[in-house]
Amino acid sequence: KKVVLAYSGGLDTSVIVKWLQETYNCEVVTFTADIGQGEEVEPARAKAQALGVKEIYIEDLREEFVRDYVFPMFRANTIYEGEYLLGTSIARPLIAKRLIEIANETGADAISHGATGKGNDQVRFELGGYALKPGVKVIAPWREWDLTSREKLMAYCEEHNIPVDFSSKKKKSPYSMDANLLHISYEGGILEDPWAEAEEDMWRWSVSPEQAPDTPTYVELTFEKGDIVAIDGEALKAHEVLERLNKVGGDNGIGRLDIVENRYVGMKSRGCYETPGGTIILRAHRAIESLTLDREEAHLKDQLMPKYAEVIYNGYWWSPERRMLQAAIDETQKNVSGVVRMKLYKGNATVVGRKSEQSLFDESIATFEDDAGAYNQKDAEGFIKLNALRLRIAAGKGRQQS
Ligand code: ARG
Ligand code: SIN
Repeated sequence: KKVVLAYSGGLDTSVIVKWLQETYNCEVVTFTADIGQGEEVEPARAKAQALGVKEIYIEDLREEFVRDYVFPMFRANTIYEGEYLLGTSIARPLIAKRLIEIANETGADAISHGATGKGNDQVRFELGGYALKPGVKVIAPWREWDLTSREKLMAYCEEHNIPVDFSSKKKKSPYSMDANLLHISYEGGILEDPWAEAEEDMWRWSVSPEQAPDTPTYVELTFEKGDIVAIDGEALKAHEVLERLNKVGGDNGIGRLDIVENRYVGMKSRGCYETPGGTIILRAHRAIESLTLDREEAHLKDQLMPKYAEVIYNGYWWSPERRMLQAAIDETQKNVSGVVRMKLYKGNATVVGRKSEQSLFDESIATFEDDAGAYNQKDAEGFIKLNALRLRIAAGKGRQQS
């Protein structure tokens, strides 16, 4: 009996290690990944060792995360319920995949995670797990144990000699947070009242627009087939792109969001999100698409987007429908290359210029000046008349309504 646990090194998942060993009398393998959460992952090794873990996986997955999950998602301009950039949702499929791969490598038959029974994350981890290893056993301690409060958790630590890092300089945040290269999320605490405004000191990556500099910052983003490959002419890896844009975006107060969303399990929840780089990318990507995509291609893609967002939010990354949608989206991106110039200023990311070798924008046709016969305005007469035909027939038969 062996179980692979998604281990953060924090208190909750440390308790889970002990609890798994005790409750299931099994060997625990820990898996800790750096996906840009901004915390050292190496300390997880000593902590796991102290808990008697023998097989410890610690990995830097930042590049894979952005290249194979975040960027493919952004090709669709994906947002859930009109607002949420899916920062947590998109990280789960990668964690699920590594959990299963590690289970296969170590001969484990089960996986485990620290998500509660109320949320989306449990669904995402487990749907991914089952999709990639149909017979896998899933252990979700939060749905099983009775450690339902901080006090009970602390008592368990004391009882089982789990070192609680009281010396930690950072005071425990009152929020349930999740961070990676794409975003930080905040839930719980005072946010459980949808009317209560988040405190200014909750936000970690961005200054408020009021505090942002009085002079704008300009950035030039180079796209290749829908993905950003360079900033201000400097070639960058996928994860470096996000790192850079998070910094410059956060410095200019960009990417704060405060919403109530519909969780897959059926409840509404209030969350605050900081997604500076993602917010910039979304704008810029639409701008480069506006030059390079055919109209019908663009509009159809936009119709698919809410479905694609829901698929990711609900945890179906490893599904045939996601692959199908991805193939369609990726097909549209082959000409989505060029440069977008953005102005970042006090919470706004504004597009101020765009250019592309693949541009479909034709100045000689679009001009308000003399187009030298490139476009025959007389053609528009028949175009409009035929499009009006059914409207005229209906009106002629008295269907016209005021
Ligand atoms: N509500 C967001 C989502 O479902 C964020 C979840 C945050 N997860 C967490 N474990 N704190 O994607
Ligand atoms: C959790 O329950 O672990 C966090 C919230 C969520 O998954 O949506």
